Amino acid sequence: MKITVLFGTESGNSELIANDIAAEASSAGHETTVFDLQDFDPANFTPSEFYVVVCSTHGEGDLPNTALPFAEAFDADPPAMDGIKYAVFGLGDTFYEETYSRGSEHLDARFSAQGAERVGEYGRHDASGWDLGSDVALAWLPGILEAAEAA
Ligand SMILES: Cc1cc2nc3c(=O)[nH]c(=O)nc-3n(C[C@H](O)[C@H](O)[C@H](O)COP(=O)(O)O)c2cc1C
Repeated sequence: MKITVLFGTESGNSELIANDIAAEASSAGHETTVFDLQDFDPANFTPSEFYVVVCSTHGEGDLPNTALPFAEAFDADPPAMDGIKYAVFGLGDTFYEETYSRGSEHLDARFSAQGAERVGEYGRHDASGWDLGSDVALAWLPGILEAAEAA
């Protein structure tokens, strides 16, 4: 499978996790590319790739800095995303209570509104928990890849 991992970050956690996901998927035989969302043009979504979105939460439940130019470009000219499949791994901190893990949900809402289909479980990492983000993400990944291949 061809996999594009997209990350949005402010302090680097999502980038580390995105790179670990890509390395794991590559060693499982997938062809993998990683982009910071700020370097990804929303016009370039293609059904031949499976997208894994890794994105944190900042401000008050908002997108992190590197996802902002992407969201602006997306809203200025929303791409048709029919036939596109993706998974989401959201980062956040339950310390923030009602805005917990909302950042990635802003992207999920945009993608599904444009006709893309989210597959598998919605992954989450809580910075207040004991588990490392990459450990949680790598435990989540096999189920996602299986769901993507079956979809
Ligand atoms: C200023 C600031 C605001 C944050 N706001 C939220 C929030 O509203 N909700 C949430 O779930 N996490 C929030 N977080 C937690 C981050 O999402 C979490 O630390 C994440 O691991 C950061 O990932 P990143 O390094 O990829 O940006 C906030 C963190 C900071 C520093």
